[in-house]
Amino acid sequence: MTLRVPFNRPCFAGPELDYARQALAAGHLSGDGPFTKRCNALLEGLTGARKALLTTSCTHALEMCSALLGVGPGDEVVVPSFTFVSTVNAFVLNGATPVFCDVRDDTLNLDERILPSLLTPRTKAVVVVHYAGVGCEMDEILRICGERGIAVVEDNAHGLFARWRGRPLGSFGVLATQSFHETKNVQCGEGGALLVNDDRHAHRAEVIREKGTNRTAYFRGEVDKYTWVDVGSSWLPSDLLAAVLLAQLENAESIQAKRRAIWDRYLVALAPWARETGVRVPAIPAHCEHPSHMFHLRFHDAAERQSMIAHLRSRDVHAVFHYQPLHLSPMGVRHGGRPGQCPVTERAGDQLLRLPLWNDLPAGDQALVIDSVLAWRR
Ligand SMILES: Cc1ncc(COP(=O)(O)O)c(C=O)c1O
Repeated sequence: MTLRVPFNRPCFAGPELDYARQALAAGHLSGDGPFTKRCNALLEGLTGARKALLTTSCTHALEMCSALLGVGPGDEVVVPSFTFVSTVNAFVLNGATPVFCDVRDDTLNLDERILPSLLTPRTKAVVVVHYAGVGCEMDEILRICGERGIAVVEDNAHGLFARWRGRPLGSFGVLATQSFHETKNVQCGEGGALLVNDDRHAHRAEVIREKGTNRTAYFRGEVDKYTWVDVGSSWLPSDLLAAVLLAQLENAESIQAKRRAIWDRYLVALAPWARETGVRVPAIPAHCEHPSHMFHLRFHDAAERQSMIAHLRSRDVHAVFHYQPLHLSPMGVRHGGRPGQCPVTERAGDQLLRLPLWNDLPAGDQALVIDSVLAWRR
């Protein structure tokens, strides 16, 4: 069923068709063509990463992290339970045991105060997710992990353009990942990137992304033929998709300005209502600059949340819930997950609702969303 105001609509910044035409005309449609290189360079500039490599998805970039860190059976990887399945699955795929950490009640980010109690000599990595692009407490997380020699990976699927204490998200972990799925601020349908912040992983990242070969070095003229040198897979996207993404990255400023205006309008219109009803709007700590990726509300319980979803649907507005606790999923339970293990995650899974937010959301449609929320009665 299509509602008047969908939850998301992929938007185009302008030059997408022109760039796609250029990519088709240039005849380089495989990976690592000129558009991919321009995207990589822009991402390095935006995030400060030592190296950025476009990938076919954030999921695949996370799988690259797992491979680069040499994760294997017997290793434990600490993950928030409140996240998308790929944050965890990428590591479980290589035999790791997931150790689920609860999230903070304010930002819904991995709770750094719980983290030390979950670390063991087998902990290989801690994966953090900056929920809605609001930064995790990175100083503390890096200190805790640094003292123990544990790698930190940032799943920054939501957080391109965001900063924590002035520093771009994606620049803190040894490795970080981005998503360009059509629900993200800049997108190419399906896509992602790996950010490498430690030079020790830079060369191998290129190799495992190219089926375990040194083809990237060959294309740079560094070797006279390329060959199989490591394990790997095919994690690089077509240059045609990179052309679409480049059109968006080059227009990031105007995209972000539009999203900021929409996000701020939601906050201004709904904050007084939220105070009255006890429904919560997003909490943004003063040291976090967020990317206006998502506007969410947190109700008292699942029944209230469902009542609002149904109410909005009756007014032609599509609002959706978000992550369900991974420790209580069938796979999570197989890894020892049990009710009560991550209470904040369990509550947030029931309470959270996301309102429509996309780059070109018309003001009239947003007004309909706001008016409908305000007209809801418990
Ligand atoms: C936190 C998080 N990580 C990873 C992903 C997977 O991204 P992709 O669809 O690009 O594989 C998502 C999806 O939205 C996500 O929310």
